Amino acid sequence: MKKIWLIGLSVLMMFGLLGCGSDTGKAEEKAPAPVPQQKAADVAAPAGKGKILVAYFSATGNTKQLAENTAKALGADLYEIRPAKPYTREDLNYNDESTRATVEQKDDKARPELADKNAPVANYDTIVLAYPIWWAQAPRIMDTFVESYDFTGKNMTAICTSGGSDIGSSADYLQKLTKGKANWKPGKLFGPRAEAQEIKSWFTGLGF
Ligand SMILES: Cc1cc2nc3c(=O)[nH]c(=O)nc-3n(C[C@H](O)[C@H](O)[C@H](O)COP(=O)(O)O)c2cc1C
Repeated sequence: MKKIWLIGLSVLMMFGLLGCGSDTGKAEEKAPAPVPQQKAADVAAPAGKGKILVAYFSATGNTKQLAENTAKALGADLYEIRPAKPYTREDLNYNDESTRATVEQKDDKARPELADKNAPVANYDTIVLAYPIWWAQAPRIMDTFVESYDFTGKNMTAICTSGGSDIGSSADYLQKLTKGKANWKPGKLFGPRAEAQEIKSWFTGLGF
């Protein structure tokens, strides 16, 4: 699979199509009061990282699965980045250069419209962007997303899925487009079924 994508990408590049404290003492004296049930995800969250949002775009479900696993592993919340016009199966047919997703990826000015602008970015300290690799880059809707909110002062990083390619320059490109001065750290490619331990140790290593 990786080989197929490498060959495809080489052809595309040849044609110049890529852009590139608590009061615990008192509680001990009395019968324990009912404690609100804590989510498993909260218990697993790495300490002291503030609130984390995983903002993901997924066309066929792989990145959605990774985003869900990541949110669980990091005790994060999830937000789905949805295009105003959903991608059809035909739009995603990368064997035909005239189909929507490929045409958008060839055009670094393409900015597919978002279905909503309600991502609660302002309420979070850290934003983890999640996306599939499309022709070696993040889908253009991710460009729209990073230009549509003010990320000043946010910690930011990226995770992605692919058919074999690595993350490449995709997160660096998003960093360049990000509105506001954010604290960006390197992203990583994961399998859709990446395990909590793998995700947590990568995230802890970022040192946010
Ligand atoms: C238009 C398009 C372009 C793609 N380009 C690449 C690519 O350059 N390299 C790669 O390894 N996979 C590529 N893929 C495969 C996707 O990255 C992979 O299937 C991903 O896991 C899909 O994520 P999703 O299910 O969340 O949409 C491409 C898929 C599409 C639809």
